[in-house]
Amino acid sequence: MKINVLLSPHNADELYFTGKNTIVIDVLRASTVIVNALNNNAKEVIPVDSVDFALKVSGGAFSGQTLLGGERNTKMIDGFNLGNSPEDYTEEIVSGKTVILYTTNGSKAIVKAKYSENLIVCCFNNLKAITDYIVDLNQDFEILCSGASGKFCIEDTVCAGKIIELVEKQILAVELSDSASASLILNKSFSSVVNMLKECEHGKKLIDNGFEKDIEFCSKMNTVDIIPFYNSGILKLIK
Ligand code: MLT
Repeated sequence: MKINVLLSPHNADELYFTGKNTIVIDVLRASTVIVNALNNNAKEVIPVDSVDFALKVSGGAFSGQTLLGGERNTKMIDGFNLGNSPEDYTEEIVSGKTVILYTTNGSKAIVKAKYSENLIVCCFNNLKAITDYIVDLNQDFEILCSGASGKFCIEDTVCAGKIIELVEKQILAVELSDSASASLILNKSFSSVVNMLKECEHGKKLIDNGFEKDIEFCSKMNTVDIIPFYNSGILKLIK
């Protein structure tokens, strides 16, 4: 099994993903939102790469059944129903609803990887479920870190390293690219995930903007046993 880590979505174009198995990560906070919305029985999540498209999808035949969620510069967008705090996606609010999600990096990374054969979404909350899926699949895979406006970010890379650490415990013949090896090393250099999240660039920005409780929530390991799977523009729970 070969594992490669893309440290930013700018490291590949859309066609790169054709036929690949891809895990998309945006720990702070898009992938954590997606995992928890689906865990709280949202019918589906539609990640989009522009606010205009989000508004278009939510109108017409779908209005009333949809919720617009996400952020711009960490804050809720005018006219949207929800921001990008995972705990706001409660069962009461999202159950049975289609969530259309626009975020600065995470939703765009998922759309970029849309030609993947298998595309799944990971955060710390569902790490074990993702690892079990990958071990069962036993094929090469890519980990796409959503990063920060095209740049590297620590938190997604550490999460990628954690996936690799767990996969290597179960599969002996794992071949790592240099970026995958670097992710593993970076992961091992942090003893506390929550402290890492508080000290990284985006973590500090979230704290400055009043979202410290989101960081605690995003740091929790294996609280949710589900896998969001992307098919034809829509994320649903894997069957
Ligand atoms: C993103 O997509 O960049 C994030 O989810 C941003 C955030 O939640 O603040």
